[in-house]
Amino acid sequence: MTELATLSYKGKTYLLPIVKGSEGEEAINISKLREQSGLITLDPGFANTGSCRSDITFMDGEKGVLRYRGYPIEQLAEHSSFREVAYLLINGRLPTSDEIKHFSKLLNDHSLVHEDMRTFFESFPRASHPMGILSSMVNALKSFYPYLENTEESINATVTRLLSKIRTLAAMSYKISRGHKVIYPKAKFSYCENLLNMMFHSPVNPYTIDKDIVQALNVFLILHADHEQNCSTSAVRMVGSGKVNLYASISAGISALWGPLHGGANQAVIEMLEKISKNEMTVSDAVKKAKDKNDPFRLMGFGHRVYKTYDPRTTIIKKKCDTFIQKFGVKDPLLNIAMELEDIATHDDYFIEHNLYPNIDFYSGIILRMIGIPTNMFTVMFAIGRLPGWISQWKESMDDPEWRLNRPRQIYIGHKKRDYVPINER
Ligand code: CMC
Repeated sequence: MTELATLSYKGKTYLLPIVKGSEGEEAINISKLREQSGLITLDPGFANTGSCRSDITFMDGEKGVLRYRGYPIEQLAEHSSFREVAYLLINGRLPTSDEIKHFSKLLNDHSLVHEDMRTFFESFPRASHPMGILSSMVNALKSFYPYLENTEESINATVTRLLSKIRTLAAMSYKISRGHKVIYPKAKFSYCENLLNMMFHSPVNPYTIDKDIVQALNVFLILHADHEQNCSTSAVRMVGSGKVNLYASISAGISALWGPLHGGANQAVIEMLEKISKNEMTVSDAVKKAKDKNDPFRLMGFGHRVYKTYDPRTTIIKKKCDTFIQKFGVKDPLLNIAMELEDIATHDDYFIEHNLYPNIDFYSGIILRMIGIPTNMFTVMFAIGRLPGWISQWKESMDDPEWRLNRPRQIYIGHKKRDYVPINER
C-alpha cells in the first residue's frame, strides 16, 4: 500500500503519495499537486526537489557515501579503470572480458576527429578558455557526424564516438593553444595512456608513459564519472528533454560545468592557493574573508550542496597525492598551503557549524599539477571524467516513461497589468 502525506489548505485536504528509493530515501510525489489544488511548489536551487527516479548513482551526503550502480566509489577507484567505469555507468553492469575488449576496439575505431575540425580550432583566439572551445567543438560534432538516428545501434555509436573523441579534442585544443604539433591517438595505448600521450608527446621530447601517472589519471576520472543530479547533469537532462541531440545536450553540460561554483572550482582552488603562495593573501586572511558576510569571497574547494561531511572522493584523492609525493619526491608548495588551509578551516567554528568540508576540487588540482596538466585545462579534465555520467543520465531520461519536457513554473512578482504609455508621455 502506498503511504500518503496529507496537505491541508483553505479547508481542503490533499493526499500526496510517498515514493521510496531502494536505499530508504523518501519523497512526496507532487506531480498531480497543481492539477488537484492549483498550487505549485517553490524551491530555489532545487535543494528539496527530486527531478527524476534514477538507478545510476547513490549518494548519502550525511554519511559521505558515493556508489555507481551500487558499487562503492572506494572499490572502483582501487580496482577498476575509467574505461570499465564508463561501461558500467552507461550499460548498468560491469563488462565481461570480451565486452571490454570490444568496447576498447570501438573506442580506438572512433578516436580520430574529422580533419576539418582542425580549421575550427585554429580560428579560436589563442587566449580562449579550453572549456569554451570544448563546448563548441562537442556541439560541432553534430555537423561533422550528422547521421544520428533514434536506434540503439546509432545511439551506441554516438556514445562511443563522444567518449573517444572528447579526449582527442581536449588534447588538440591544448596542443593548438600552445602552437604545437597535434599528436594523433594510437591504437596500442589504453584510454588514459592515449590522452596523456596526445597531450604531452612531442617530436622533440618523446613522452614516457609512467604506470603510476596513468593510474592517477584513471582514479581522477573515475572519481568524477558521475554525481547524480548535479548542476551540469541537470543541464544535460534539461536540454535533452526538448529532444535535442546528444552532442548539444553534452555541450550544455560542459558549459554548466565551467562555472567556479561547480567544475570550475578546481581551477579556482589553484588560483586561490597561488595567491597565498605569492603572499597576496595569507591563509588566515582567506579564512577570515570566507567568513565575512559582507565579502563575496568563498573558500574555493570547500562546501557541497549534498555532502555535509567529508567528501569521500577527497579522501581517495588525498591518498593518491601521498603516493605521488613518495614516488616522485614531489615538493609542491601549494600542497603544504592546502593542508594548512584545511587544518585551520576544519577546526574553525564557522566551517564546523556550516558543515563545510573540503570537496574533491580542493585536492584534485594538486594531482593534476603532478600529472603535468596546466591549470586552465583542469575543468576540461573534469569534463572528460564526467562524460560517462552525463551520457548515462541522458540515456536514462530518454527511456524514462515519466520523463517530460522540463519546464518549471514560477511565482510572478512583477507589475500587475498596466497600459502602454506612448514615448512622448513618459
Ligand atoms: N566558503 C565560505 N562559506 C561558504 C562556502 C565556502 N566555500 N560554501 C558555503 N558557504 C556558506 C554560505 O555563505 C552560507 O552561509 P549562511 O547560511 O551563513 O548564509 C552557507 O554556507 C550555505 O551556502 P549555500 O551557498 O547556500 O550552499 P550551497 O549548498 O548552495 O552551496 C556550493 C554549495 C558548492 C556552491 C558552496 O559550498 C560553494 O560556493 N563552495 C565553493 C565552490 C566549490 O568549491 N565548488 C565545488 C563543489 S564540488 C564539485 C562539484 O560537484 O561541482
